[in-house]
Amino acid sequence: MKKTIRDVDVSGKRVLVRADFNVPLRDGEITDDARIRACLPTIEDLLQRGARVILCSHLGRPKGREQEELRLTPVARRLSELLARKVDFLEDCVGERVRQAVEGMGDGDVILLENTRFHPEEKQNDPAFAAKLAEPAELFVNDAFGTAHRAHASTEGVARHLPAVAGLLMEKELLRLSQVRDAAEPPFAAVMGGAKISDKIGVIGNLLDRLDLLLAGGGMANTLLRVGGVEIGRSLAEEDQLETAARIADRAGSRLVLPVDVVVAEDPRTGRGNRTVRVGNIPENSMILDVGPETLERFRKRLDGVRTVVWNGPLGAFEHPPFDRGTLAMAGILADLNAETIIGGGDTGAAVARAGVVDRVSHVSTGGGAFLSFIQGETLPGLAVLQDK
Ligand code: 3PG
Repeated sequence: MKKTIRDVDVSGKRVLVRADFNVPLRDGEITDDARIRACLPTIEDLLQRGARVILCSHLGRPKGREQEELRLTPVARRLSELLARKVDFLEDCVGERVRQAVEGMGDGDVILLENTRFHPEEKQNDPAFAAKLAEPAELFVNDAFGTAHRAHASTEGVARHLPAVAGLLMEKELLRLSQVRDAAEPPFAAVMGGAKISDKIGVIGNLLDRLDLLLAGGGMANTLLRVGGVEIGRSLAEEDQLETAARIADRAGSRLVLPVDVVVAEDPRTGRGNRTVRVGNIPENSMILDVGPETLERFRKRLDGVRTVVWNGPLGAFEHPPFDRGTLAMAGILADLNAETIIGGGDTGAAVARAGVVDRVSHVSTGGGAFLSFIQGETLPGLAVLQDK
């Protein structure tokens, strides 16, 4: 067990909080603020107890240099609305200006630092940069579960320079996900989607011995369909993963359930040629963009009676309605189950929210890559470095 903010005195202290404010943006607007909301309990708890809260996060992948569209300004605005208080936004995350601003803070003040990934040293986990990040603070709190699988300066390095504990979101994620990782009640099912099978091979390989059922959809199912000799037209598939996919299919045997009908079109943006076909009849000029109704019915029947389900990855081209139907339907299927239902990944979490069933599933993780790493038993560097109880 890791120490949390509950185990330390924070009153009057300068507390550096690493959050995962890596939120989706469109034209400078936040399209889903779930990750910001998820960190509020930690921030509010610290503020109530009189801490001076210095928040930091990455946003996107700016490759070590400043990028206008990846500034944290929209996050500062949203955070200020959600907290109903002023959030001072600084234009860097280290340096003299930060030191001065922190010096001027009073108890209960909040500062948000600029995108940590504007500095190449962040991803390099550069010790000197980590020391600079730590310098103005007296305590480090890691609440960025979604980035805990990265050994970066603001997630791992900084914790070597300050007393370091977990935030309340980190604690909640660990409690819910450890239960699945260590003691999932059988029958145990995984629903795996998303574009690429290469992103999921590791987790599927590691979970497979414990799984009673593996349902596959999305682009990754196309590669598995190819293994079975299905012609998939112009659909997304990873030809270089066919051998690995074949091994997975072989190991899974009858536990693997693949689509039997799919929604196809010539282009996801125009939807031209949109129709539902059996997997044996996919037109040459079409792409698989969603699972069909018969597949969903099959998935629903096979999931009946399971006691634990993890779901990661949309079952179709979720970002291009109407090819989001299968994914939204899957959210409903899971919500109706009498089982522990654990959902991970940004798109998958967004699907559960759009289907209006967040309150009817057991847990929606804020992690994507971190979620997959954790449930397959990998050590998360941003977590390992925190103080034990
Ligand atoms: C995520 O969105 O999964 C986390 O914020 C980590 O982002 P990254 O994959 O760019 O490291």
